[in-house]
Amino acid sequence: MHVTVIGTGYVGTVTGACLSYLGHQVTCVDTDASKIETLQRGQSPIYEPHLETMLALAMERGGIEFSTELAPAVTRSDVIFIAVGTPPQPNGEANLEYLEAAAHRTGAAMDDSRFRVVVNKSTVPVGSGNLVETLVREGIAESRPGEKRNIRFGVASNPEFLREGTAVADSLYPDRIVVGASDSQTLDVLRELYEPLAAQLFDPPPGVPRPPAMKSAPLFTTSLTSAEMIKYAANAFLAMKIGFANEIANICERVGAEATEVMSGIGLDSRIGSKFLNPGVGWGGSCFGKDIQALLHTAREYGYTGKLLQASFDVNCEQRQMVIQKLQEKLRILKGRTIGLLGLAFKPDTDDLRDAPSLYLAARLLQMGARVRAYDPIAMPACRKQQPDLKIRYCESAEELAADADALVLVTEWQEFRALDLPSLARSMTSPVLVDGRNLFQPDAARSAGFDYSGIGRAGTPRAAKKNADSDQ
Ligand SMILES: NC(=O)c1ccc[n+]([C@@H]2O[C@H](COP(=O)([O-])OP(=O)(O)OC[C@H]3O[C@@H](n4cnc5c(N)ncnc54)[C@H](O)[C@@H]3O)[C@@H](O)[C@H]2O)c1
Repeated sequence: MHVTVIGTGYVGTVTGACLSYLGHQVTCVDTDASKIETLQRGQSPIYEPHLETMLALAMERGGIEFSTELAPAVTRSDVIFIAVGTPPQPNGEANLEYLEAAAHRTGAAMDDSRFRVVVNKSTVPVGSGNLVETLVREGIAESRPGEKRNIRFGVASNPEFLREGTAVADSLYPDRIVVGASDSQTLDVLRELYEPLAAQLFDPPPGVPRPPAMKSAPLFTTSLTSAEMIKYAANAFLAMKIGFANEIANICERVGAEATEVMSGIGLDSRIGSKFLNPGVGWGGSCFGKDIQALLHTAREYGYTGKLLQASFDVNCEQRQMVIQKLQEKLRILKGRTIGLLGLAFKPDTDDLRDAPSLYLAARLLQMGARVRAYDPIAMPACRKQQPDLKIRYCESAEELAADADALVLVTEWQEFRALDLPSLARSMTSPVLVDGRNLFQPDAARSAGFDYSGIGRAGTPRAAKKNADSDQ
C-alpha cells in the first residue's frame, strides 16, 4: 500500500521504516527541512538502535522516501499516518496545533481518486479522532471553495506503544495493535496494511530477532474514543506501577527491607508481573508526565478528579528529590561540591532528554550552589544543543567525571556503566560517595570498591541485587 507518515520524530521515523520493511511504499514528511535532509542521506535524526539499518534496507528496496512536501505524498497514498508531537501546555492540556495543521493540510491535499484512511498515531486527548475528521473536512472544503467533490476518507486512531531504545523491535513484534474506527471500510484498510505484522509474515531484520514464542500480534479493534483512552490508560498504569515501586522502596529503606528483593517477591505473582517494578530516581521521558497531565485535564473537563493519577505524578516529582536528600545526608553541604552525573538521557539507548530526571537534578544542584558535571555515552550533544543555559561541565568519560568529584550519581543505567572500574573511580574522587539512582550496582561490590554507596530502597542488606532491566523510569 502507499503510505504517508507525517512527522519524522521518534515515532514517525520508526513507523515509516518498519512499514516499508513490511513491503509498503512509504513517504515520510516533516516540516523540519534539516531532519528530512538527514534522512535523505540515510542517517537517522535521532539515536535509536537498529533504525539506521532499517532505513538502509528500506532505501535499498526503494520503499521509502523523505520530503517536506505533504500534498504529493497524500495524493498518492491509501493511508496517511499523523505522528506529530503533542507536547504539554502549562495547564497540562495537550498542544494540538501540530496535529491540527497536519490534519488540515492532509484534507487540502486529497482528491477523489481513491478512498483514504487518515490514521492518528500521535497521543491525543479523547475525542481528537472526531477533531481530525472535522479538520480534514475543513481542509477539503477550503482547498477548492464552492466546488462539490466526492472525497472519500475514513479516520482511525492507532495509538503507538513503542519504547525508545527498543522501538524497532516493539514496532515489529508488538504485544497488540490497537485500531479504533467507526466504519468497516476503514478497518478493512488497516487490517490489510497490518496483515504482515499481525500474522508475522516477514523475515526478521538483522539484529532484531523475533521473540521465540511469537507467532502473531493481535489486532484489537475498538471505537475511536476507546483507542485514544487505551493509550492514556496504559501509560498511566505503567507510571503508577513504577511510582508504587518507588513508594514501597522508600518505606523499605526506613524499615530495613531490601526493595529489590521485595519487588522480585511481588513480581513473581502473575497478577502483578515483574516488569516496571524497579525502584529508581523516578520516571521521565516525553510520554508519562505529559500523558498523565493530559488525562487529568480531560477528567477535569468532565468534572472528575483523578486522585490516583495525580498521586502517581506527585510521587514521581518527590522521588527525584530523594537523590538530593541522599547527597545532603552524605555530604551535608552541597554548596561548592562537585557532583558527577552518570547519564543524562531519560533512559538508556536513547538520546531523548524530554523530562529527564538528570535535567531536574542538574538544575536543582546548580541552584543549591554545587558544581555539576555529566557524562553520557550518547545524549551529550543533544543536551548541549537543547539546554544551552544549563551550566554543567560535560566530560568525555566516567573517569574524567569522577576525578576529584565529591559524589557520583548514577542517573541512567547505560550498559557500559555496568563495566566501570569502580575501585579506580572511587580512588580518584575527593570523597567516594555513590548514589545509585537505578540500583545498577551490587551494593557489596560498590562498597568493597571503596564507595560510600546508597541505592534506592536498599537498607544495606548484604544480598545480591537483581539486575535493573526496566527502562522507562
Ligand atoms: N516518543 C515516544 O516514545 C512515543 C511513544 C508513543 C507515542 N508517542 C506519541 O507520538 C507522538 C509523536 O511523538 P515523537 O516523540 O515522535 O515526537 P517528536 O517531537 O520526536 O516528532 C514530531 C515530529 O513532527 C514534526 N511535525 C510537527 N508538525 C508537523 C507538520 N504539520 N507536518 C509535518 N511534520 C510535523 C516535527 O518537526 C517533529 O519532527 C506524540 O503524540 C507522542 O506522545 C511517542
